[in-house]
Amino acid sequence: MCGIFGYIGKNVKVSALIDGLSRLEYRGYDSCGFAGVHQGRFFLRKRPGKIAQLKKELKPVLNNQFGTAILHTRWATHGEPNKKNAHPHLGGAGNIAIVHNGIIENYMKLRSILIQEGVKFLSDTDTEVISHLIEKFYKGTIEEAVYEAVKELKGSYALGVISKREPDKLVVVRKGSPLIIGLGKDGKFLASDLPALTSLVKKVVHLEDEQIAVVSRCDTKVFNFQREQVDVKIEDIIITAEDTGKKGLAHFMLKEIYEQPQVFKRIQSLYVKNNRVCFPNINMKESYFKNIKKIYITACGTAYHAGYVGKYLLEKYCNLDIELDTSSEFRYRKVNLGKDNLLIAISQSGETADTLAAVKEAKKKGAKILSICNVLGSSLIKESHGFIHTVAGPEIGVASTKAYTAQMSAFYLFTLYLSQVKGLVDEKQSQEFLFDFEKVSQYVEDIFKDDKKMKKIARKFSRFGCFLFLGRGINYPLAMEGALKLKEISYIPAEGYAAGEMKHGPIALIDEYRGVVCIAPKDELYEKMVSNIQEIKARKGKVLGILNRGDTEASTLSDEIIYIPEFKNQDFAPFLVAVCLQLFAYHVAKNLKCEIDQPRNLAKSVTVE
Ligand code: AGP
Repeated sequence: MCGIFGYIGKNVKVSALIDGLSRLEYRGYDSCGFAGVHQGRFFLRKRPGKIAQLKKELKPVLNNQFGTAILHTRWATHGEPNKKNAHPHLGGAGNIAIVHNGIIENYMKLRSILIQEGVKFLSDTDTEVISHLIEKFYKGTIEEAVYEAVKELKGSYALGVISKREPDKLVVVRKGSPLIIGLGKDGKFLASDLPALTSLVKKVVHLEDEQIAVVSRCDTKVFNFQREQVDVKIEDIIITAEDTGKKGLAHFMLKEIYEQPQVFKRIQSLYVKNNRVCFPNINMKESYFKNIKKIYITACGTAYHAGYVGKYLLEKYCNLDIELDTSSEFRYRKVNLGKDNLLIAISQSGETADTLAAVKEAKKKGAKILSICNVLGSSLIKESHGFIHTVAGPEIGVASTKAYTAQMSAFYLFTLYLSQVKGLVDEKQSQEFLFDFEKVSQYVEDIFKDDKKMKKIARKFSRFGCFLFLGRGINYPLAMEGALKLKEISYIPAEGYAAGEMKHGPIALIDEYRGVVCIAPKDELYEKMVSNIQEIKARKGKVLGILNRGDTEASTLSDEIIYIPEFKNQDFAPFLVAVCLQLFAYHVAKNLKCEIDQPRNLAKSVTVE
């Protein structure tokens, strides 16, 4: 996905506009650009690379002021991350400049039509067709031209559009990609996400899908695609600048790892009252859940790993049949979904294209949608019949941490909710379950105390060229998540595997140059894990054991050990394993001097397929 920032109002310095854009850099950082209108002319600068490099290039003009500007930080979809493909893009006559987040599915067809009409394309992007279409349809006002242009487009697009000929106008469009207008006292801002606005405004307008806003210095009008004016819903901004800062820590990822204990407490206080679980926005009757027999779960990446933990919980505690699949697969499968089926979709951003597409497909077949999501007002929440807000606060680090354990928390509480609704647990069993849930934040705080040891272990294991992460049962998804965390921020190849599968191939990988992380808390599969560790040691593999304090068997075999506290119910161990593996990945990547918050090729949310 990409980050869009824009402004219209009293002149502001270029440096302030660039700073606003930089708060969206987690959305994509392959290239970036700026276009401002001044005395009937565009001032346009764009380049590959990060915003800091653009700022350096703009050094001579950082104090220049503009009253109308659009800015963009890109995650490349069509066209390499180079200067010509960087946004903003101009229309042929150079009167229109646009920035775009999303994907135009029919851009090749539009491109060939425009070329036949004599248009000269300067880039390989899908976006450029939009700027030429708006230019083509321009007959005096940007919004009229935009109305005509969007009729031709298929796909998703959040747009910011300015014209040299109408310097007092910023036209924005939302279809399938988020856009927010910030209402300041001296001007109005445009942003893809709230972190860019927290220190600038107190009031915002979340554009809805298929809306066009005409923003000028004196007013803001919103229209639907049928050109009917619609009410402008002004809302208070719900996060603070502090929420989106690093609080003095080296990386957003570390800050967000450390925030997890307070997130668990927030979730518990929000959804548990007198040992009963209640989700205010689930928007489905208890009677609906009482009789449910099967649940589908879909998500991508880390969210998928949270769904995997949820699968184990719901099968074990609610006797449910659970079908789980990644969204990019689920959306294309011919699954026999109907009105009696429930699909749970999990997404931190609520903007992941494959998950949104899977949900839309399921809705078409009549299924009910329950989303577990971290961003209110996101496309996924708008598409869902009900939702559980994970209240983790903004997650800026591209590698998901607190959102993951918050999604897990939602599943633990949803499992208890269903058990209560189905009459599968009594008061005492609910109390026992919640007793362990309440312990999570304290046990995670305990783990933070071992940070020095974690750093030492990470330093020692940083030298391995690739890793296997092994787990069983409810900890198997944690093996996958641990591997994903490590590979996406350190670029070390790592694979999460069901430990029982190791003998069916992966054991061929084991030698003294291989790091093997074995997740072996004292649960019903512990002895099996001990056997796996013995098999690894017999082949000189180097084992990092994630073990309970007081362990007497696996600890004698492991080369290094991260100890975790023991729960009464060891099904809560995944929370502690998750945090250990987040910290392990973080310190390995830090040791290797990697770009932890903005790893190469990645973006915070994949809003394109
Ligand atoms: C997580 O560390 C990754 N950045 C990625 O796998 C992410 O979880 C995935 O893209 C899903 O994002 P979402 O939760 O916003 O849908």
